[in-house]
Amino acid sequence: MSIETIFDTMDYGTAPEDRRAALQWIADHGGISGPYVNGTWGPFRDDMPVCNPATGKKLAGMTITSADEVAAAVAAAHKAQPAWEASGGPARARVLYAIARLMQKHARLLSVMESLDNGKPIRESRDIDIPLAIRHFYHHAGHAQLMPTALADRVALGVCGQIIPWNFPLLMLAWKIAPALAMGNTVVLKPAEYTPMTAMLFADICAQSGVPPGVVNIITGDGSTGEALTASNVDKIAFTGSTAVGRRIQNATATSSKSLTLELGGKSPYIVFDDADIDSAIEGLVDAIWFNQGQVCCAGSRLLVHEAIADDFHHRLKARMDKLRIGDPLDKSIDVGAIVDPIQLAQIQRLVAANDAGETYHANTPVPEGCFYPPTLITGLHAADTLMQEEIFGPVLVSTTFRTQAEAIEIANNTKYGLAATIWTENINLALDIAPKLMAGVVWVNATNLFDAAAGFGGLRESGFGREGGWEGLQAYSKPATAIAPPASIAAFSGQGTTGETVDRTAKLYIGGKQTRPDSGYSQAVFGAKGLLLGHAPIASRKDIRNAIQAQAACDWGKISGHLRAQILYYIAENLTAQATGFAARLDAMTGTTTGASEVDAAVDILFTYAAWVDKFEGRAKSVPIRGVALAMREPVGRIAALCPDAAPLLGLVMPMAAALSTGNTITLCASQPFPLAATDFYHIIEASDVPAGAVNILTGSQADLAPHLGAHMDIDSVWCLSGEGATQAVKAKASSNIKRVWTGAAPEDHLSWLDAGTEIKTIWIPYGE
Ligand code: NAI
Repeated sequence: MSIETIFDTMDYGTAPEDRRAALQWIADHGGISGPYVNGTWGPFRDDMPVCNPATGKKLAGMTITSADEVAAAVAAAHKAQPAWEASGGPARARVLYAIARLMQKHARLLSVMESLDNGKPIRESRDIDIPLAIRHFYHHAGHAQLMPTALADRVALGVCGQIIPWNFPLLMLAWKIAPALAMGNTVVLKPAEYTPMTAMLFADICAQSGVPPGVVNIITGDGSTGEALTASNVDKIAFTGSTAVGRRIQNATATSSKSLTLELGGKSPYIVFDDADIDSAIEGLVDAIWFNQGQVCCAGSRLLVHEAIADDFHHRLKARMDKLRIGDPLDKSIDVGAIVDPIQLAQIQRLVAANDAGETYHANTPVPEGCFYPPTLITGLHAADTLMQEEIFGPVLVSTTFRTQAEAIEIANNTKYGLAATIWTENINLALDIAPKLMAGVVWVNATNLFDAAAGFGGLRESGFGREGGWEGLQAYSKPATAIAPPASIAAFSGQGTTGETVDRTAKLYIGGKQTRPDSGYSQAVFGAKGLLLGHAPIASRKDIRNAIQAQAACDWGKISGHLRAQILYYIAENLTAQATGFAARLDAMTGTTTGASEVDAAVDILFTYAAWVDKFEGRAKSVPIRGVALAMREPVGRIAALCPDAAPLLGLVMPMAAALSTGNTITLCASQPFPLAATDFYHIIEASDVPAGAVNILTGSQADLAPHLGAHMDIDSVWCLSGEGATQAVKAKASSNIKRVWTGAAPEDHLSWLDAGTEIKTIWIPYGE
């Protein structure tokens, strides 16, 4: 093109990045991406091609690591783990720092390789993916350094199996490997089959950074390799990818005690109020949905725009879409690159073609042949339309309108997901009012897609659980130094006879603030140690669980002030103290011990403790590299159900209740199975203590019968399995129904772990300035 033509047309030229160094690296490694295990490469087999999505040409071959080879990688990681952990935080910090330095040195090579392999614009891999990945290693070098002092009571989990997707190959690797290594774990990581190349470069960097053999193991392969890793004897699985596979992994790990974190899909709302700075909101939207061709789990893929500005907004948005340039990912002047693979392209085409609602607009911009899809906007959809609900995972924005704030929140939350949300308004009061009401792990105010290693990222609901980044991310890669003893299983006493009472005083269930007969109509006799009949406890069933959870849903406990929550917990303690003698006698009679009085004392103390914590278990303002803050707000997990331990029937009931109420949750407690009468006595204390209806529900009966229903219930957010392996497995086997959190408890004195189990971090990003 001549200079004259350029001046005439004012068109962009091309500015292609040089690909030779990346191609040479591949050639030098035999043209194959393969496992890196125990510090050595191979076996290299050409089991599957890895293609450049922009050209369709083969970049390299790939070994599909077999189940036996996966087992060998896991064994190498187990062998290396004790020495790696024992080397200490500061020694690990040096290694993580060395990795970060080398990544920085090879940043250009990493960027080019990422764009070749994934199809994302070089501008994005060069300016976002790779710098953020490097930042993760620097940040976590710091966490390793500080671990002996700042996290002295925590230790590594062991070997972490990590499975990552193709949309941010090196960044997801960094999110997973950096915190794991910092906390003293070793890792076996499987990159996605479409995009293993930067993981190969990373393995090379590990080899040069002094990472001991076996500490970082990379296994290439497809879903079968991922399945083998999930089934292997790793101590943890960390997964990022589709909700469907996340669900399978949750099922596959249900029979084990592996830790699990899942970062899954999303359909994140992008809410534009009528007072928003529209041009900024449109630029934000370009980033929200056309960054990485929309193949982003937290993409702002659902536009909710105020009705008053909708026409103008859509008009300006279409004009901006027409200016987006689609093309060769290695061209520095393009905005939208290639879709990762023809299978993904077909999926996008299928979903869009199947939609006949609303109006579809494809950007009026040239689209190259091959694996490319034009930026697309579908307006006029209703909240229930398929494309408003299903993750498209492509450059397709769907849009609807709202009239009021309440309606905006309702539509925003009308999804099974809960990953991220964006709010645009010039009214900061409005933004900060709305942010806590959105079901999302991350909220951006007048900005979008802000990420940093110091800030937690992760979802709610079917977007998964666990956080990556910041102090909260370290929780998922460490555990308390003192292990808790497995809960003892105790058989109920048997006996015979009657209570001698003329009036039947069969205890009831306690649901929605009322004493309720069990739906089954049955109760069980409860005998004391000497075979005396002490009373009858109702046998709860699935319908009682349903009623209890409905009562929890209707209760506003999480919205009342912390001060008031504390007052109510103190009041429960006060009322229990007043009834201490009766409770102590009841406990002694049920358990055949003489520890009743001290158990009551301990329960009162726990109530005081969690009342004290209510307004002291705080969030943080994160130090992130923007002009602004990222607030890490602690929000209640929501509706919790607890299977209480057999032993210590009062304390085992009060502990989860106090921790859950303290953090703003409602709870259904399934009482100690052999000793249920402390729980049925306890509802009189609840009744007398101003506890709102539904905040605490108490069920008795067979935990083995109740556990699967708790696991399967779609409206329970978390089940605390405190009564032993059998019930835990029954819950876990069904927990993937709604990607439920399952927690197995912590030592009684480890208050922070209990409080953590009751909360989830919501990161709210608030940039400053006009
Ligand atoms: P995927 O969830 O199947 O793959 C993610 C990772 O899991 C890959 O490393 C894959 O090899 C592995 N994997 C697959 N099956 C497995 C199994 N049974 N056990 C263990 N690991 C397994 O995602 P895929 O097929 O690449 O994309 C399908 C859809 O998933 C996309 O259209 C998109 O909607 C969604 N997706 C969401 C992502 C997110 O970040 N939320 C990332 C990638 C895809």
